[in-house]
Amino acid sequence: MTDEALKTPTDIKSNAAKTVAEALNGILADSFALYLKTKNFHWHVSGPHFRDYHLMLDDQAAQIIGTTDAIAERVRKTGNTTLRSIGDISRHQSIQDNNEDFVPAARMLIELREDNLKLVEKLREAKDIVDEAKDNATSGILDDWTDQAEERAWFLFEASRNA
Ligand SMILES: [Fe+2]
Repeated sequence: MTDEALKTPTDIKSNAAKTVAEALNGILADSFALYLKTKNFHWHVSGPHFRDYHLMLDDQAAQIIGTTDAIAERVRKTGNTTLRSIGDISRHQSIQDNNEDFVPAARMLIELREDNLKLVEKLREAKDIVDEAKDNATSGILDDWTDQAEERAWFLFEASRNA
């Protein structure tokens, strides 16, 4: 079976839908990368603020993973295909993994804040692309994902203020 079989009908012009799909697949890969890094730090955080940070990072990870299904399904609804594997994620992600043995808690918060702001940047770029394609539904939902990423960056900033 070819790729043709997975072409969901859409009235969005096919090259425009393709660009939207590329932007969304990048955001999806970054969301998975950020989810796993947030969980990694949830598991490995240490120090006097352990409980606060451990719980905050779990909330944030749950929020991030909660967006992934809707991102992938926007790609399918607009006639394209989405990510299929961890390998696919690693080929599309721009947020870098952190495989260090030990990361101080303060450093974790700063790094996650930067990553969330990077995601906000990508969401803004995608917004221009989807508006150009007149993909209103994706445009609206991008606003929610942007608000959530900005909220995570805000919490991370406040929690790391004097760290
Ligand atoms: Fe946990």
